[in-house]
Amino acid sequence: MKSVIALLSAAALVSFSAPTLASEDLAKANGCTACHQLDKKVIGPAYGQVAACYASKDAKKLDANKAALAKHVIEGGAGVWGAIPMPAHPQLKDGAKNAELKKIIDWVMKDVKVTECPKEFKPKA
Ligand code: HEC
Repeated sequence: MKSVIALLSAAALVSFSAPTLASEDLAKANGCTACHQLDKKVIGPAYGQVAACYASKDAKKLDANKAALAKHVIEGGAGVWGAIPMPAHPQLKDGAKNAELKKIIDWVMKDVKVTECPKEFKPKA
């Protein structure tokens, strides 16, 4: 619980001290849009597909899905959407950059419902 509070206050500090970018701009600023579009697969899956495949009405399951997505972005890897790997993003593991990654994932899961989950999607768990 303490760590949750520390995290929350760290996030609050960041949002006051750094210029606040909208989540879509954060995705651009972190290079995600080179491989991801909203509505169609390019090199990586469309964010709309990610939102559709990992959606859940169960809040706990949704949180677990978001955490797994963030982990996959940080560690990189292939096999969920096809053979092309996503490069690792170790720079997003901690601190303010990790808060940015969480904001991007929150935005994808909440706002980018523009398409359906494709057949080739193979969830890890
Ligand atoms: C060089 C291209 C590339 C870049 C840059 C990239 N991705 Fe990916 N991304 C991919 C590929 C390819 C996959 C599919 C990996 C797989 O099939 O396991 C993927 C998968 C994903 C997924 C779904 C993961 C899952 O477990 O289903 C998310 C979410 C995601 N990327 C977000 C991001 C974010 C956020 C960034 C920016 C910080 C980013 N990506 C940058 C290529 C990229």
